Amino acid sequence: MQARAFGIKTTLKVQEHLTRMIRRDQKAAESAPKAAKGAKDMQLAGPGPVRDSILATMPSELRTPHFPEPMRENTMDQQWRTADLEALDIGITKHRVPDLISDKLALWTVKLARRPTDIFFRNKYLHRSVMLEVVAAVPGMVGGLIRHIKSLQGMRHDGGWIGHLLHEAENERMHLMTWMEVGKPVLWERALIATVQTGFFAFFSLLYMVSPRTAHRVVGYLEEEAVTSYTHFIAEIDAGRIENVKAPEIALAYWNLAPDATLRDVVLAVRADEALHRDTNHHFSDRIRAGCESLLDDMDSTGDKPNIKY
Ligand SMILES: [Fe+2]
Ligand SMILES: [Fe+2]
Repeated sequence: MQARAFGIKTTLKVQEHLTRMIRRDQKAAESAPKAAKGAKDMQLAGPGPVRDSILATMPSELRTPHFPEPMRENTMDQQWRTADLEALDIGITKHRVPDLISDKLALWTVKLARRPTDIFFRNKYLHRSVMLEVVAAVPGMVGGLIRHIKSLQGMRHDGGWIGHLLHEAENERMHLMTWMEVGKPVLWERALIATVQTGFFAFFSLLYMVSPRTAHRVVGYLEEEAVTSYTHFIAEIDAGRIENVKAPEIALAYWNLAPDATLRDVVLAVRADEALHRDTNHHFSDRIRAGCESLLDDMDSTGDKPNIKY
């Protein structure tokens, strides 16, 4: 009963988040001219006159004070310090209990896929993170593309998912860019990572076309593993086995971290993003199952709702 209540609470939290995101997008569209002011601070390479002439001809829709946008909607409202990041309630051990056979298959696929990473990278957490992010940045873009094409072909609204999926892909790519600033994989590691990503891209594209419900479940479980992996990363830093170096500039700007932020703060921020992806993708899978894909519809009011357990 308690698990069921927690499941409903989680679903409502995700629904609230997604509804807030839709409203924020609408507000951003309304205030686009104001955002153009922020372009004054944009850093463009080149000498002054060239830079000025580029800025003068820049279309207004490209002018934004902060790009790409972070995942959590309140990230830019305050500068994040270690205590704030640690206080985030993200549900570190949260696990969606699989009940359908396809959900169990999704879980086993992710568990199995984790094995080679354990063998190759063991506790080289920076390298593991690069591998994880190269793969994790694929599903949002694939899902967004397929839903976009389906929406065009079916000439109907997609339920408001596409923007969120693309935003997620971009967020994952920013995770990758951040880790590439901290540690550089050697050539054979880059080759291995690129090969795995190519294979995963083909697998996930096919899966999304056949069963988007299972595809989102796979991502939900992949994100559960990501949260676990980043929790181990933090433990390694705390144990002194990974040096807690200064956070790279790209991370300070993207997550609005305090100037003295360290690698540990970055891992905390990345882990919080992964938790959001975990909840969102499990929620998307549950919505497909419930036949209630529009994010503006209340999922709990539908007759055919899955028995969600955490
Ligand atoms: Fe990520
Ligand atoms: Fe993620």
